[in-house]
Amino acid sequence: MELTSSSSEDKRPQFGNRLLTDADDVFEHNAWDNVEWTEEQRAAARCKVAEAAENRVDDSSRKHYEDEAANYWDKFYDVHTNRFFKDRHWLFTEFPELLPQNQQTDSPNGTHPGGNDLEKAAESYPGQGARYRVFEMGCGVGNTIFPLLLINKNPDLHVYCADFSPKAIEVLSSHKDLDRARCTPFVCDATAEDWGTPFPEESLDVILFIFVLSTISPEKFEHIARKSFKYLKPGGLLLFRDYGRFDMAQLRFKKGKCLDDNFYVRGDGTRSYFFTQGNYRKL
Ligand SMILES: C[S@@+](CC[C@H](N)C(=O)[O-])C[C@H]1O[C@@H](n2cnc3c(N)ncnc32)[C@H](O)[C@@H]1O
Repeated sequence: MELTSSSSEDKRPQFGNRLLTDADDVFEHNAWDNVEWTEEQRAAARCKVAEAAENRVDDSSRKHYEDEAANYWDKFYDVHTNRFFKDRHWLFTEFPELLPQNQQTDSPNGTHPGGNDLEKAAESYPGQGARYRVFEMGCGVGNTIFPLLLINKNPDLHVYCADFSPKAIEVLSSHKDLDRARCTPFVCDATAEDWGTPFPEESLDVILFIFVLSTISPEKFEHIARKSFKYLKPGGLLLFRDYGRFDMAQLRFKKGKCLDDNFYVRGDGTRSYFFTQGNYRKL
């Protein structure tokens, strides 16, 4: 199960519309919306989760994975560079807010659509002249932002993206499709007090968290939600997609990998939390 917090691409069915009618199609999607678990299945899942939680990782190892989180992700990108995650083509199905026709906002500072070269040169921060600003936190090597920039040609759009792995930002920054007039990458740790952003507070229309919060310690979620709120314009949107509770990925974790309730460490030192809808509504 995966969770999305906002719900149109023509070809892909939006969440809520993925209905399994022919058993042969079972592998067409990674989740189905009309398949209800039986109480027995639920009990079996609870049992697996409880088993894996029996011998948790000790405190000093837990601290190690927290302190070294950025290093583990750096190593991950050293090994996989940009070959691991698939481009997020479902993005526009689930988040139609990212399509140009849905991005009609008033200019915050009276600039003209798209601006001109003179205005761009006079910008006090990159993307100041844009009318619609999107920021992805935990962008990795750009599997979300590249499809976004490719499909959304709105000249008034500026995309910022950050990751705490310098290697990820290095790989993303050297991508042949990166257009710095439309996109500003930077290194940033979401759990830090100072995000060191290139944009000011209350300047963003959208903040994206795509499979990122799950990799962060749940104790930090509130801090990240508060920081995000500061950077959004009034009425701005936080778009979130991540793992749901009892995803098969959760049920596969064995004993000795559990860091905290529903939070685990993988063999490569990266971590994963599994959300309920209640978790993110509260945030
Ligand atoms: C599963 S990947 C998702 C990447 C990207 N959002 C995508 O859709 O392909 C999780 C990313 O979150 C980043 N990350 C984890 N903790 C972070 C933190 N505290 N601050 C910033 N980025 C973080 C990792 O480096 C990694 O690139």
